This record gives sequence, C-alpha cells and structure tokens, in this order.
Amino acid sequence: MSTTTGVSSRLANVPASPIRKLVPFATAAKKEGVHVYHLNIGDPDIKTPDVMLEVLHDWDKNPIGYDQSQGNPGFLDAMLWYYHRLGFTFLETSHIQVTTGGSEAISMALFATCNPGDEVLTFEPLYTNYNSYAVVNGVTLKGILTTSDTGFHLPDRKTIEAAITDRTKAILICNPNNPTGTVYSADEIRMLVDIAKEKGLFLLSDEVYREYTYDGREHVSLLRFMQEIPDSAIVLDSMSKRYSLCGVRLGTLVTLNKEVLRGVLAIAQGRLSSGLVDQAIAAKLVDVPDSYMEEVHKEYMNRRDVLYEGLRSIPGVVIPKPEGAFYTIVGLPVADSEHFCQWLLTDFRDNNETLMIAPAAGFYATPGMGKNEVRIAYVLNIASIRRSVELLKKALSIYPSK
Ligand SMILES: Cc1ncc(COP(=O)(O)O)c(C=O)c1O
Repeated sequence: MSTTTGVSSRLANVPASPIRKLVPFATAAKKEGVHVYHLNIGDPDIKTPDVMLEVLHDWDKNPIGYDQSQGNPGFLDAMLWYYHRLGFTFLETSHIQVTTGGSEAISMALFATCNPGDEVLTFEPLYTNYNSYAVVNGVTLKGILTTSDTGFHLPDRKTIEAAITDRTKAILICNPNNPTGTVYSADEIRMLVDIAKEKGLFLLSDEVYREYTYDGREHVSLLRFMQEIPDSAIVLDSMSKRYSLCGVRLGTLVTLNKEVLRGVLAIAQGRLSSGLVDQAIAAKLVDVPDSYMEEVHKEYMNRRDVLYEGLRSIPGVVIPKPEGAFYTIVGLPVADSEHFCQWLLTDFRDNNETLMIAPAAGFYATPGMGKNEVRIAYVLNIASIRRSVELLKKALSIYPSK
C-alpha cells in the first residue's frame, strides 16, 4: 500500500500573479504567429546603460563565487553615493542591506516587522505581489480603498486610523505607485509618518519608481522623515526599473533600526549572498551619465501622454492622468475584465495582432474589487503604444459579452 504526502495547506493560498497567469494564452497566440503587444508587465524595452553592459564584456573573475551577505562593498558604496546625491547624507552603508531584487526587500521587511497573523495596512489597488509576500510571511494585508475619482490619492486620516486594529503592525505604501501611477504629496507622506508615530506602527515605503514623477511633481521619499522615526521607517528599493535592470536581481532595504538590520542580515546570511555579477554590473551606477536618466524620464512621460490621450478618446474608458511610475489602472466598459483580457489573447485579432493587459482584480486585497478594471504598463515604444490603443479600441467595439 502506498501513501502520498500532501503539500502544505498554505501553499494553495499563494495567489497566481494576475500579471503572469494569462501567459499560456499569450504563448498559444504567439505559436499561431500572432504578434502580442505586452502591456501586462513592467519589463521595460528601454536599454540598460552601456557602462553596465561593459562589465559583462570585460568580465575576468573565475570562478564566479559568492559575495558578502550584506552586499558587495563596491555596490554598497555606489548605493550610498546614490542616496547621498539625493540629499540623504545621514545614511551610512551600515544602514543598507542588499537584497535579491526589491521583491526580497519587501518580503524581508514583512518578516522583520510582523508576527504570523499580524496585519499590514496598505492602499488598494496595490502592487499585486504584495499579496504573495504577505501569504508567504503569514501576514494579513488589509487594503484601504483608493479610487480613480481622487486620482487614487490617500483617504483622510480618520479613514486610515479606523482601519487600525490591535493586530496592525505596519503600513506599506508604494510611491510612486504601481499600479495606479499616483505620486503621494508631502502632506500625504507627513500624515502617514504622524500616524505611524502616534500609533506605534512601522512605515514601509516601496520606492522602486522614485525617479519617475511627471509634470514637475517632486518625489517625497520616506528617507526625508527617516531620522524623525528612526525605528519605524523602512525604505525598499530596486535597481530593476531605474536602469532597466530587471534581470539583474538587486534591491536594497534601508533603515536606521539596528534590530531590523541585524535580523535581515541573518536572513541574508541564510541565503548566502546576492549575485556577484549582478552587483558588479549595478555598482557602475556611479558612472551612468545624468543624460541617461533624463532621456528615460522624458521617454516615459511621452509614453504616458500618448497612452492617456489615446485611452481618453475611447468611449466608456475611465483613466485618471498617471502622475508617475509607468502604470495605470483603467476602467473598461466590460463586466469581467479577466474574461476580456483572456478573450483578447484567444479570440481577438486585428491584422494578426493583439495585446496583453492585466485584469485588475488581483491588484486588490478585497475580493470582488477591480472587476471592470485593467492595469496597463506603458513599457513599449510610442509606436507600439499607439497601436495597442488602436487594438483596444477595436476590441472593445466588437467584444461580445459586455
Ligand atoms: C512596486 C514594486 N515593488 C517591487 C518590485 C520588485 O522589483 P524587483 O525586480 O527589484 O524584484 C516591483 C516590480 O515590478 C514593483 O513594481
């Protein structure tokens, strides 16, 4: 008689990413020879800076070994240079933990601040992978709703405080926001700092899109308030979007809280190190000319404008003007956006082309939300964005089950 070992019951609770779960349908469409415009995932087509690629061309270290658990000293120095250049000169390398992607930084921060069953307040729609990091760390995400009529800005202090319970340990924000494109004002960040201070909560700020704010908006980093709440503030960062380095899996966790730093270093020691080659590439950030970031910034703002103007002209489509990052949550005149997104890949063709966008339900922690919304990432060139808007317009005009 044979017995089988069952998988854990918690495994089933890890949600599939709404960004990736329709991929098999896209793959099938491509096998048929259909061109698919990918606006479903934030994997930009912008080129990585040349000075970073040169590291690969010139590589001569053999073997490629482990690096230090806190991070490669050269990369840590480069990150310190970057933060000092932003004006946060109080930081030292000892306040930085290098992580394998911003993803690991977020996961480490949840583990470091919460016990199993604790609650973390965040704002919906949210970066969908927060849901999986929360499940993996046994944390409950509690979403406070933001809506398109206010440009997805934060609700007032009373509403936020009403969501705090005995189990609440932290507030997690994403600024500039993925998926809404909202950039929080200085007053909004101030309000969150005050709440964190008064209620004794951690404040975790995911700032992986820090450089991407449009129309002259300033980015208000939590680093600005870090010395005021040294034990509660944690900043989460990534190389992926800043230098088009998604495949270089590197991020940072930055805090003045020594206990958190000691703990996350212990976790980092357990997983040995982040990539040696990755850190050598990213350490070149000090040599990236300012003109690179200026060009990239201009390009994203142009893409935002083309997408915004294009979508606004489609009847029934609701889109607040994105203020930053390279995403937007768009209301569509459909009852079930997941069905619509799948139908785009399985049934809709125009000149043998279609597009892939992400149904928004998975960007909410509250079940039932986002059913008529999608998230669009404007990570393709302007011509592809124009064509994608055209495809969406045509698709909505013939979609059978509205
Ligand atoms: C808001 C946000 N945080 C974190 C990440 C993770 O980035 P990384 O590639 O560094 O793991 C992403 C990636 O899309 C993101 O959008």
